[in-house]
Amino acid sequence: MIRFPLENVAGELYVDGVSSLRLAEEFDTPLYVMSEEKIRMQYRRLKDALSNHVDRARVLYSAKANSNLAILRILHEEGAWLDVVSPGEVHLALRAGYRPDNILYTGTSVRDDELGYLLKEEVMINIDSTSQLRRLLRLGIPKLLSVRVNPMIGAGHHEHVVTAGEASKFGVWEGEALEAYKEAREGGVERFGIHMHIGSGIMSVEPYILASERLLKVAKEVHESLGVEFEFIDLGGGLGIPYRPDEDELNLEEFIKRLMSFIRERIKIHHLGEPEIWMEPGRFLVAEAGVLLTRVNTIKSTPTKSYAGVDAGFNTIMRPTLYGAYHHIIAAGKLDDPPVKEYDVVGPICESGDILAQGRRLPELAEGDIIAILCAGAYGHSMSSQYNSRPRPAEVLVKRGEYELIRRREGMEDLFRGQVIPERLRNPNRC
Ligand code: LLP
Repeated sequence: MIRFPLENVAGELYVDGVSSLRLAEEFDTPLYVMSEEKIRMQYRRLKDALSNHVDRARVLYSAKANSNLAILRILHEEGAWLDVVSPGEVHLALRAGYRPDNILYTGTSVRDDELGYLLKEEVMINIDSTSQLRRLLRLGIPKLLSVRVNPMIGAGHHEHVVTAGEASKFGVWEGEALEAYKEAREGGVERFGIHMHIGSGIMSVEPYILASERLLKVAKEVHESLGVEFEFIDLGGGLGIPYRPDEDELNLEEFIKRLMSFIRERIKIHHLGEPEIWMEPGRFLVAEAGVLLTRVNTIKSTPTKSYAGVDAGFNTIMRPTLYGAYHHIIAAGKLDDPPVKEYDVVGPICESGDILAQGRRLPELAEGDIIAILCAGAYGHSMSSQYNSRPRPAEVLVKRGEYELIRRREGMEDLFRGQVIPERLRNPNRC
């Protein structure tokens, strides 16, 4: 698992040329460390792979994976557009300098005032239901609209992240899609795309092929019945990354080659013209760029187990608790030490589910050691919370031996922000 941006320098973990122990010392822990170069590399790998097989390809970054403004800026510089899911993400996207017509809003259970905001900001809108479409058209006409179709094939690393199929709350059913485009056309929409997102953490191309076959059948029907020319076909995000040391990386070239040749062929037989082909990954672009550093504060043994108690918990990184997700863990200052002991690595949250890793063979740990939780760049900080009244951690960006703070650590005052004590309950001495 020690590959770029990670490096073993005399037994110590470096992230793109920066000592992890030094970062932990200077910024304290828990600390998210992001590698700029790795993000750029992943973006270019995907963009190049797509461009090798289709004339017009576009990569949108799914901002929910990590919506730090500096990360959004890096991907903007690379030429990415954005997939966003809330007015807050639209706001961040605009703040980061993305043009409204480079932002695609894919929401679910969307309120009318959100729709109004999207129209005002003139972002592209991807609808999730006919209800949403009708409410939208009552408020105004979006410059470009697409329909998120549920192609009835879903996939993903956990049932919570499968976003298509019979049991999914997302998207418009195949049978309803034609009607949705018809209503949009009649309502005055002039520019269209079509979209699917089948799930997250997917390591094989088959579900994409099966799902896009159904998606493109819908596109064909809409094109034939209504004469709609699709400007883009968005195949969603979901590309998986290897979290475990024994897991193979997705063969990106092969994956994209197979998917794109299938798409090209279907576009041709269905006479769909020359739409751009879009993909909108989050995890693939940022997960491996991120490391979470946390410090061991407690070593505790029971007759059955050894625990390493650290200062990151499911308030800091929720994936292990929420999905039973595996994140590889290494002792950042003991990379050359033999793994001699099994530990449960546990956090400070007052719940039994606050376990970051179970039964991991690690070097003998001591209180004060720094532990690195790998592949934490996606859905790490963005899913963190203040549960148990713990301020959220800082984020640092590293690049070729240099480092910069990109999010300050929250302080105690951040825990009170927005709270109001009614006059009658005020403590005259303290607040
Ligand atoms: N597009 C749409 C419409 C989405 O809903 C998502 C993610 C993406 C793109 C990006 O998916 P990605 O390429 O990152 O897999 N918290 C979970 C993942 C939830 C994904 C939600 N939607 C996790 O930590 O595994």
